[in-house]
Amino acid sequence: MLILSIETSCDETSAAVIENGDTILSNVVASQINSHKRFGGVVPEIASRHHVEYITLIIEEAMEEAYVQFSDLDAIAVTEGPGLVGALLIGVNAAKAIAFAHNLPLIPVNHIAGHIYANQLEAPLEFPLLALVVSGGHTELVYMKEHGSFEIIGETRDDAAGEAYDKIGRVIGVPYPGGKHIDEMAQLGEDTFNFPRAMIDEDNYDFSFSGLKSAFINKVHNADQKGEELNREDLATSFQHAVVDVLVSKTVRAAKEYDVKQIILAGGVAANSGLRAGLKAAVAEELNDVPLIIPPLSLCGDNAAMIGAAAFLDKEKYTDTNLALNAQPGLTL
Ligand code: KG4
Ligand code: ZN
Repeated sequence: MLILSIETSCDETSAAVIENGDTILSNVVASQINSHKRFGGVVPEIASRHHVEYITLIIEEAMEEAYVQFSDLDAIAVTEGPGLVGALLIGVNAAKAIAFAHNLPLIPVNHIAGHIYANQLEAPLEFPLLALVVSGGHTELVYMKEHGSFEIIGETRDDAAGEAYDKIGRVIGVPYPGGKHIDEMAQLGEDTFNFPRAMIDEDNYDFSFSGLKSAFINKVHNADQKGEELNREDLATSFQHAVVDVLVSKTVRAAKEYDVKQIILAGGVAANSGLRAGLKAAVAEELNDVPLIIPPLSLCGDNAAMIGAAAFLDKEKYTDTNLALNAQPGLTL
């Protein structure tokens, strides 16, 4: 079963060819970050224009790299949401055109389900499982009792983890998106500021990162006003420790309570070195026999391979060209 999948929900134009939901034949990702950097964030109109310019080239490249023809494909898959509406529409319309031209089934995929199913490209999912989804727009603990069943048992009440990284990154002057840069700096400093670990001891699985973000920003501004210079690496390390402590502690607690067979990490912030190491160590120490899957760095950020992996599940549900499909910018799991 060969699926050509397309992802254009934010600022990466991506196409992939996936075999049987778990094998990557190609996964081409074109990032637009350089075009958005000078604005300090993703500009939706610019994102749409880039997707229009690149989508056909990226699809051709994915097909060529996989050595397949359109006649070899069994289905097309595309991210229908959540994301930027103009960006999503480019992928949805490209997918519809190919489905119509080659009379192929069109499978719509939820972007967050895609991030979760990136793990299926690494190892088979075992249920029940617990997924920690951490991206630029989402921070959620998701309990899955079987394929396609998503129960959100906890989520952020304000900022997403990635969003908090990007906002504090701006304050200490690293380029957008700040997450990766802060992570690199965090490896060079020490946790000297002891920022708050919000909601860590509360009896729920929700998160909050806006208090931490404000504490960080206030610390930097107060120092600026006094003409003091704070150690940037220590700031980054202190911030990262505060984020990772809360994410790891709540994930481990939920995994125990829900007695899961597997823990998986998903989303752009899954690339974070502190989170990867912290979760590995805590799971090994506190949840002896529970396997932890962490996607390779290439599958943490937005990519079409994860969309093809998630689509494979729904292959029986969508058997026609589905030309009524529309973008769903506010789609939930
Ligand atoms: O999943 P993703 O590519 O896009 C969304 O669906 O949101 O996640 C992007 C987010 C950005 O906020 C980025 O700063 C963050 O992931 N990110 C990181 C790291 N790499 C990417 N955050 C912390 N540490 C990293 N190494
Ligand atoms: Zn994403």
